[in-house]
Amino acid sequence: MNGRQSPFGTVAVALLTLCTAGAGGEGAAWASSEQTFPQRATAFADKPAIAVGTAWYPEQWPEAQWEADLSLMRQSGFNTVRIGEFAWSRMEPAEGRFDFDWLDRAIAAARRHGMMVVIGTPTAAPPAWLTAAYPEVLRVDENGVRAGHGGRRHFSFASARYREFCRRIATELARRYGHDPAVVGWQIDNEVGPPSFDQEAVNAWHAFLQKRYGTIETLNRRWATQYWSQHYNSFEQVPLRASGQQNPGLLLDFKHFASFMWTDYVQSQAKALRPLVDPRAFITTNTMFWNAGFDHFEMHRGLDLAAWDNYIPEGRPDWVANGANHDLVRGYRQRNFWLMETQPGRVDWAGVNRALDPGQVREMAWQAIGHGADAVLYWQWRPAPNGQETYHGAVLGQDGRPSPIQPEIARTATELNSAANLLADTTPLAKVAMLFSYDSRWAIDLQRHHRDFDPVKAFTAFYRPLRVQAQGVDVISPGANLSAYRLVVAPDLMVLDQRQADALAGYVRAGGNLVLGPRSGMRDDANALWPQRQPGPLRSLLGAEVAQYHALDEGVKIAGAVQGGATIWAEEMVPLARDVKIIATYADSGGWLDGKPAIVTRRVGRGSITYVGAWLDPVPMAQLMAGLLAEKGIAPFIPDTPADVEVAVRAGGGKRVLIAINHGSEPHPMSLPASAALRGGDWVDGQLAAHGVAWFELQKDAR
Ligand code: GLA
Repeated sequence: MNGRQSPFGTVAVALLTLCTAGAGGEGAAWASSEQTFPQRATAFADKPAIAVGTAWYPEQWPEAQWEADLSLMRQSGFNTVRIGEFAWSRMEPAEGRFDFDWLDRAIAAARRHGMMVVIGTPTAAPPAWLTAAYPEVLRVDENGVRAGHGGRRHFSFASARYREFCRRIATELARRYGHDPAVVGWQIDNEVGPPSFDQEAVNAWHAFLQKRYGTIETLNRRWATQYWSQHYNSFEQVPLRASGQQNPGLLLDFKHFASFMWTDYVQSQAKALRPLVDPRAFITTNTMFWNAGFDHFEMHRGLDLAAWDNYIPEGRPDWVANGANHDLVRGYRQRNFWLMETQPGRVDWAGVNRALDPGQVREMAWQAIGHGADAVLYWQWRPAPNGQETYHGAVLGQDGRPSPIQPEIARTATELNSAANLLADTTPLAKVAMLFSYDSRWAIDLQRHHRDFDPVKAFTAFYRPLRVQAQGVDVISPGANLSAYRLVVAPDLMVLDQRQADALAGYVRAGGNLVLGPRSGMRDDANALWPQRQPGPLRSLLGAEVAQYHALDEGVKIAGAVQGGATIWAEEMVPLARDVKIIATYADSGGWLDGKPAIVTRRVGRGSITYVGAWLDPVPMAQLMAGLLAEKGIAPFIPDTPADVEVAVRAGGGKRVLIAINHGSEPHPMSLPASAALRGGDWVDGQLAAHGVAWFELQKDAR
């Protein structure tokens, strides 16, 4: 720890140093492995290409049970266990006194059964001795209330002392198991969040702002603090707030701060692990459904692969919306990922914890594979005898016998094992990219202007027809290289900085086709209005601007090449350049929008830029996307698939694998490409069975 004196204290100086070295994305300070990981579950050539398994908590059960558990796992087709992520008080029962004997035996038992092992660092659950001796490590919420013991995630992400304890336990684990032949990967912490508002966090916030803005004058200018007498004379005066009556610049920077802090927290463990573990072992952390607690692209710059926990809390899957989150996770590293947790039937944290229907647990596993997962792990193997999650779905009951869902899970695991060699080295194909901007999502959520303008729903409204019609979509960050895509859709890119705008303009000028959705280009990265009207720095490229935006309490009609209605949001577009074409106009008798352009487009060399000013209903949205895809020559792998049927193609290593999933309860005929050779699943007489899955190998030249 750096001991220099600073107005921010020693922690903040250390954070500043790390921030300078790493957070800019230069890469030098990141702990990720130097190698490029292959598109398979692990970089160990002798291990299965697809991991299937479960979260296993040997510390919760008598050791005499382990052998039977592991045998049942093997019989269920599992080849992987994730262990350790909440077992700190068992690993280190008192400060500095480590007990790994039980873990040695658990890992050895898993190894004997041929299991791959992922070790979770146990830092999401600090032990009672730690928080009792060092209460300052406990998290403080925004109202100043300090957390107590008994739950989890009750630590401060800013606590230097806590990070030291975390590094120490991570180091001990890495020294002991870093080269264990069964250990293939490391998960840091578990679903990191929420932030803390303790004094160390306040100090770190001030250091972060100083690093970001250099001088307090710059901060004042970027946040426009002349408004409501918000002017600050020094960084120390700036409150640490995440919500409430605050400057939107401050609130967006809080998100930047939280992103930096969580990334740095995870990196501090990654850096402890990396030198001590096998270079082929991956280092990751597991993330949550559409979680907006930090910028996930930033978090993953320093990790080897992405891993996430996919749950359908109400037990009613919307396959397209769920697929969007899979694609986002694949976008964090632009490579295949791990599905680190998924439900064996039901969860225990929804309003009504309905179980998935028979067949749907299998569908969801295959969906993950179709979207680029190389691992499917269930949470959890069996419920703990007590504790907060005894109602959660599990593969076994508390008596150690299989739950009714187990045969379906075992069938899925067996299928994935049999398809593993075919799937090895393949990754989903997509010719369309969508941009997901955390800054925009946060900024919209901070000031929705229409309570129903949910940025995830807005994103999904664009994603839905694209996914259904193109059968493959990459979801990537606004800063990613776009040159591989014929079509790039940015549903609500409200926050846009000059660099991103230049990159997007460069993509269009080089022949790319960019589609912007409502609210795009309104604000800069300090959440301030661009001096130009929307789309701000892309206004001159578009040759049009937004004259006014409107929150709608009832729908408005749209007419033109795209027909139907729009709800929630509508922007009045004004063409400025003569070559701008109007795709659709509003019909809003006597209203502000009547007869005004709703969607405009402009050719730029061989490329184009299109601006969609309204939240279109599903029908016009589908028409618009169909038109764009046809114009850009992007065809589905299988045309005219029924709405219930999901199609994905993974390609690589000289192979193409088509996966078809029937999410509905009726069988569906489908016309497959002539080159499709059935490799497994429920394909009978040219039909895909109800809730059925089938996979095919395609000839190389097939679409
Ligand atoms: C999360 C956590 C797990 C468990 C599950 C239950 O994903 O990572 O520890 O609590 O939820 O659904």
